[in-house]
Amino acid sequence: MTAYDVPGLPDRVTIYEVGPRDGLQNESAIVPVEAKAEFVRRLVAAGLPVVEATSFVHPTWVPQLADAAELMALLGEAGRDLPVLVPNERGLDRALELGLRHIAIFGSATETFAQKNLNRGLEEQFAMFEPTVRRARDAGLDVRAYVSMCFGDPWEGSVPVEQVVDVGTRLVDLGASQLSLGDTIGVGTPGHVKRLVAAFGEAGLGVDRLAMHFHDTYGQALANAYAALESGVTTFDASAGGLGGCPYAKSATGNLATEDLVWMLTGLGIEHGVDLDALVATSAWMAGVLGRPSPSAVVRALAH
Ligand code: HMG
Ligand code: MG
Repeated sequence: MTAYDVPGLPDRVTIYEVGPRDGLQNESAIVPVEAKAEFVRRLVAAGLPVVEATSFVHPTWVPQLADAAELMALLGEAGRDLPVLVPNERGLDRALELGLRHIAIFGSATETFAQKNLNRGLEEQFAMFEPTVRRARDAGLDVRAYVSMCFGDPWEGSVPVEQVVDVGTRLVDLGASQLSLGDTIGVGTPGHVKRLVAAFGEAGLGVDRLAMHFHDTYGQALANAYAALESGVTTFDASAGGLGGCPYAKSATGNLATEDLVWMLTGLGIEHGVDLDALVATSAWMAGVLGRPSPSAVVRALAH
């Protein structure tokens, strides 16, 4: 592909792959743990610099990821540097027992989703995260923080930018190194993305600390990623093959497909380090495991 640069965009981005976690957490048929391990290994081999492997949440809340410890054992030493979701101290203890080095907490910008996803109110979530992050940092772990429902909430409607900035900055103040802004239900549009990134900048949290996490429910994910690039964001969450969703927000469908993002970045001449052919082959294989075609346009175009 011939690359055509657009002046002013970043030279290089980091793709934070969430396929094994966000991609699979919504699947009702349990994927064998050996297939999950192969998925992770193939994504790492395809050049994805960060692969979020699984979640140490309550196993009855997300049965698909109840095999988290088994998966990390299968991945061995290589798995220790892969981030995992951890909501609370119990999840942290499970991660520490396995010698993991990177965790991600996940907060909500809205009261209703905090209740539905964490069984806690908006304020109460901070009391759960505070000792979790403090103990993780004391143990030398790196902590990422997500904020969900940054652009809209299925129960509360539009979510004020100030509310998102308030929750996000409080999570960072607990000790998170990076904040990932989640469009959990995919309702965001490019102008809203720019406004949110600017508002975080005004609150003292620059693009070097932010990541964007788009779901593609309304077909806006790639346009939103482009808007975020224009705002200077250099870390993007994406899911191989466009798998994804949240079991506690039914209107959440697939994430931004990693292949679609890689195709656009390559065309823009932006470095990403990912081998697209290896990635497409991985997603096509996983589509076979799941028994249905990949939702990614680029996978459908290139898989054979
Ligand atoms: P709870 O029931 O309130 O937990 O769940 P609790 O603290 O009251 O504890 C009750 C029991 O659960 C205790 O056991 C705990 O030990 C156990 P008992 O003493 O009764 O025998 N327990 C655990 N066991 C294993 N691992 C744990 C754990 N925690 C407690 N970590 C909790 C609260 C947060 C645990 C629950 O609500 C939960 O697991 N929620 C997770 C929901 C989830 O995973 N959602 C999807 C991920 S978020 C997402 O997808 C959005 C994102 O992609 C960004 C975006 O798109 O916006 C990140
Ligand atoms: Mg998500």
